[in-house]
Amino acid sequence: KDFELFLSEDEIQSGISKLAYKINHDYAGKDVIFLGILNGAFMFCSDLMKAFTSPSEIGFIKAASYEGMESTGKVKFHEAGQLNYNNRDIIIVEDIIDTGNTLKALYEYLGKHNPKSIKVCTLLFKKEAYQQSLPIDYVCFETENKFLLGYGLDYDGYGRNLPEVYILND
Ligand code: IMP
Ligand code: MG
Repeated sequence: KDFELFLSEDEIQSGISKLAYKINHDYAGKDVIFLGILNGAFMFCSDLMKAFTSPSEIGFIKAASYEGMESTGKVKFHEAGQLNYNNRDIIIVEDIIDTGNTLKALYEYLGKHNPKSIKVCTLLFKKEAYQQSLPIDYVCFETENKFLLGYGLDYDGYGRNLPEVYILND
């Protein structure tokens, strides 16, 4: 496949610094749960959290679409750990938001656990592909509706270890 460099390591890190500046301001003095969506968000979540200056916990949740039912937004969640979301400020951390189906389902899932607030932070946002109305509060980079790889994002399970983000040429 013909992948081209889209974001260098430096560009990613300076994007994260800018975003963290906003998040640090918005959540100053608050006790936050960063909730990373596995597998893709693990790297972004790690760098973002290092740049956060208030008390915080981290949790991870794995989202899996039901086979053949992606278009209905039917998503199942598996949690790694036992965080209590009751009355907590949660920041969902995604690698990339495409249709928004995963996010919508996660909002519904978390809503049942009575959190104080939920905001969404994503490394990449395919704005033109987004089909939901939920606000995406913190976006590091907007992208075209093309396939991306690296820095946590995979192609058939591989490529997550790349420190840069690559884009598929068509
Ligand atoms: P959504 O539910 O359509 O918003 O899809 C979100 C999930 O699909 C992301 O968390 C990724 O795991 C995956 N995904 C969407 N676009 C890409 C891409 O360009 N490269 C790799 N994974 C992607
Ligand atoms: Mg993902």
